[in-house]
Amino acid sequence: MQIIDGKKISAEIKEEIAREVEEIKKSGKKVPHLAAVLVGHDGGSETYVAHKVKACEQVGFKSTLIRFEDNITEKELLAKVEELNNDNDIDGFIVQLPLPKHISEEKVIEAVHPKKDVDGFHPINVGRMSVGMPSFVSATPAGIIELLKRYNIKTSGKHCVVLGRSNIVGRPVSILLSQKADFGNATVTVCHSRTPNLKEIALQADILIAALGVPEFVTADMVKEGAVVIDVGTTRVKSDKTKSGWKLKGDVKFDEVAEKCSYITPVPGGVGPMTIVSLLKNTLLAAKGDIY
Ligand code: GUN
Repeated sequence: MQIIDGKKISAEIKEEIAREVEEIKKSGKKVPHLAAVLVGHDGGSETYVAHKVKACEQVGFKSTLIRFEDNITEKELLAKVEELNNDNDIDGFIVQLPLPKHISEEKVIEAVHPKKDVDGFHPINVGRMSVGMPSFVSATPAGIIELLKRYNIKTSGKHCVVLGRSNIVGRPVSILLSQKADFGNATVTVCHSRTPNLKEIALQADILIAALGVPEFVTADMVKEGAVVIDVGTTRVKSDKTKSGWKLKGDVKFDEVAEKCSYITPVPGGVGPMTIVSLLKNTLLAAKGDIY
């Protein structure tokens, strides 16, 4: 069994991006600029956004963090989105999800101009991605495909089983894996909370992607001998062993599943760091005008 080291791969990709930023600077052009909007004080969102801002610094991007209290109105947030759409210094921006209940995430996602939508959440980017046109691909699915590429784990003709159908991970990764493309061409099955024989289907997977958000859902009896297991889960659970008082738990029962599979991603240090570098890559594409 081999561990898929997302931390190591993401560090390599950050170096590649940093070298490109140096070239941009040398040629006298403006460095890429990412803005992140954070509403409220959700612990997970605070951590993710802090990591995104830090990653920008590491590669030489400019970054701007815009914070609002959770009593901001939908109208005020939409006005900020419009301002960022029209700000020529900003190449791309994200609005960290989840948003407070009184704000429609759909409306906010649709308000972001597709050419600045480095999260790849806008229906135009999702639609373009689905038909294989140039688009911003959402960060976690793009990060998963990149990990498979860098470990040369072939997907063509394989049976990939995706557990979870979220707009952010399950749905887009299932589309990418079935596309006629390198690191696509797989036969893909999407399972979700209404799939009655989920275990039976998971056992058929050559590549199993767990993206349900249920800690330790995938147990050894659900995994075929020699399968590749990608764990997208990042649930915060209480812990008395860490300074922060919590730790991240994946969707896979790592110790017992690791014994059966050929490759596995750990949590933390697997898919998570790749999500951040995919966002950086999208920001670089936006700055260079490579998509639109
Ligand atoms: N919440 C969980 N994942 C993400 C992400 O990739 N982008 C944004 N904007 N919010 C998230």
